[in-house]
Parts: sequence; C-alpha cells; structure tokens
Amino acid sequence: MKSNSVLITLLAATLLLLTHQKPQLKFNALGKFKILQLTDIHLGEREDLDIRTLEVIRTVIEKEKPEMVFISGDAVSGYAWDKNTTGWFDYQFRKLERVLAEFKMPWAFTAGNHDAEGDYDRQQISNLIRSFENSVTLPNAGKLSHEFNYVLPVYSNDGKNIEFRLWSIDTGASYGCMGSHGYDCVRDDQIQWFRQANQNISSDDPTKGKAILFTHIPMHEYMNLYNYNDIFGLKGEEVCCPAVNTGLFSAIVEDKTVEWVTCGHDHNNDYHGTWEGIHLAYGRKTGYASYGPQSFLRGSRIFEITLNPYKIDTWIRQEDGTVDKKDGYTQKVLKATSQQYCCGLTVINNDESQSMKIAANLLLIIGALVISLS
Ligand SMILES: *[C@@H]1O[C@H](CO)[C@@H](O)[C@H](O)[C@H]1NC(C)=O
Ligand SMILES: *[C@@H]1O[C@H](CO)[C@@H](O)[C@H](O)[C@H]1NC(C)=O
Repeated sequence: MKSNSVLITLLAATLLLLTHQKPQLKFNALGKFKILQLTDIHLGEREDLDIRTLEVIRTVIEKEKPEMVFISGDAVSGYAWDKNTTGWFDYQFRKLERVLAEFKMPWAFTAGNHDAEGDYDRQQISNLIRSFENSVTLPNAGKLSHEFNYVLPVYSNDGKNIEFRLWSIDTGASYGCMGSHGYDCVRDDQIQWFRQANQNISSDDPTKGKAILFTHIPMHEYMNLYNYNDIFGLKGEEVCCPAVNTGLFSAIVEDKTVEWVTCGHDHNNDYHGTWEGIHLAYGRKTGYASYGPQSFLRGSRIFEITLNPYKIDTWIRQEDGTVDKKDGYTQKVLKATSQQYCCGLTVINNDESQSMKIAANLLLIIGALVISLS
C-alpha cells in the first residue's frame, strides 16, 4: 500500500516535470533566429511609470515577433524597496512576466546591479525566474561568483543540431569588486568557466564561436571602442565599467568564443562597434523609471541571426513602433575628449576625481566650441 502511493507520487512528479519542460530555442523555418533584448526596465519605482514601460515592451514585441526575449539586467529597481514589504521583487517581476506570457515565447534573464538590492538576493531571483513556464534561464553553471552564468544552445529548426549559443555572464552588484571602489566585476572563476566551456567545444565544430554574450555592466573595452574606433548609435554618458578589468575580454579573444557582446547599464548609451574583431553593443533602455535616456526613445535592441548565408544583423526597435535610423550611421560627435577611466571610479567623492571630471567636461566644451567655430 505504502510503496504504491510512493510510486504514484513519483509518477505524478515525473508527469509534472514532463509537462513543465522548457521550450527549446530553435531557428525558424526560414533559418532565422531573432532575439529582442530588453534592458534596464526598472520596475518598482512608480506604478504609472511601470504601466508605460509595459506598453513599450508590448509594442516592440508585437512589431518584431522575435523567437525569444533576453533581459539584460535591472528589470527591477531593487533600491525602490521600502525595506519592509515582503514578496516585493516577486510582485514587481510578475508584472513583466505576465506581459511576456501573453506572447507565449521563451525568454531568458541575466541580473543587473540593482535587481538584488530589494528583498530578494540573486539566488532567490534565479529560483523565481526559473519557475516560469517560458523562462529558459538556467541555474548557475557551477558554484560560480554572482549567479547568472550559463550557456543556452539554439538548435536547428528540426531541433536536432546546435547552431548557435547564447551566453550569460553575471556582472554583479553596484560595488564590491574585490575591495576596489567602483562597480562590481566579473570574477576569475567565472572567466575560467567561460574559457573551459569554450575549450570544450571542439575546434572543428563549425558552430564554435557563433554566439552572443549577454551581460549587464559594460567591459572596459567599450571605452577603447569609443576612443579609437567608429561607433554606431549614441554615447550620451561615460562608460560605467567595473572597478577592475578582470580580463573577460582577453578570454573572449583568445579562443573562438562569441562574436557579439551586449550589455545595458548606461541608459544614455546605445552604441555598437567593433574592437579587436569583437562586436560590442549596448541595448536600448526599455524602462520609464530611473534616469535617461536623454536624447532617444525607449525601446529594444534586436539581434537577428541568419544561418544561410550566415550573418548577424542588429537594429533598434523603439517605443513608437519605428526602427531608429541613427543606429545605422557612424556617430563621431564630440570626440574632443576620450574616456580614460570607468565612470564608476568617480563615485568616490575625492577631490582628484571631481577635478578630473570637471577638467574633462571643460575640455569637451572647448572642443565643441573649436569644432563649431572652425
Ligand atoms: C510593514 O509592513 C506591515 C505589513 O505589510 C505594515 O503593517 C507595517 O505598517 C509596515 N511598517 C512600516 C514601518 O512601514
Ligand atoms: C568540459 O568537459 C569536461 C569533460 O566532459 C567536463 O567535465 C567539464 O565540466 C566541462 N567544463 C565546462 C566548463 O563545461
């Protein structure tokens, strides 16, 4: 009797597991796979702003009809928590989840620096997010620093072969990079995992290196790209990269790993360009709360991968339903100064960083004057 009920329970659990199987990511019948990147959604500050934000999300998804959505962090403004309400993150995130569920398509998530500043830590956020039917977000790929470190295979239309990969590396919190001032950073164990997992893909595998990496905080190399190469799109603020460059970019270039990296974090930046053969991009800020964007509409960055002939296209779909034309042009405005250090480093309120900032701004103004006078 007893063993029978155990068996029934086991069967029921298996059935439950089977019915809760995650959707498979796969190319459509035309050999295309379109990802819509939502970033810096910033729910939880004001209900009226959240309603407008959710409308932005509906508009861009309806227009693009992507194969999946990738949320690159700061879905929720954790700092807006009243430090008392229980179930707060859960409540805020479900607003977004309900909209995504309307479209019945898979979605994945990587955390920003603000998501875990409310009542949920990264582990609790991961547990919640992985519980949703269409969430293909994976658990941490090991006992790795931070939480959202994983790789998602994207299959051929018949579901048999891996054709492409989507990586997530968790860039951590607002501070705490091994005791340094400034934004948190990717740790060595995460980078070693990334290296290892890529080395595990055989070098004669034609899909090796065909991948996009989703992160939240931009790498230092986003400054190099701005300083030395053409950028497409807009740079309306400094690159707020982590306190220390822990070498993720080196790991990206030393093996065939990914072709594109995309991030969020800096609401007034949406540019992309190529540095050392790797395409670096910002998403487009999606949410109405928090600061920015200053000089463009809210929206989303789209990546469309085509298998034959193989290529990756990207563009910005905006909240008014249009595609941003500026994204296709080289924007080299106001490059009178270059950016030499990450903006997060100026968070320390010392005189040196303040005067450096003032000097940099003065140079920018003088440069602009010289350009406009000549
Ligand atoms: C905390 O939340 C409880 C229950 O939601 C509420 O009764 C109480 O007034 C709140 N306390 C503060 C200090 O806001
Ligand atoms: C690499 O492959 C080995 C052997 O199959 C496996 O044990 C290891 O977990 C893999 N490493 C990663 C990071 O995927």
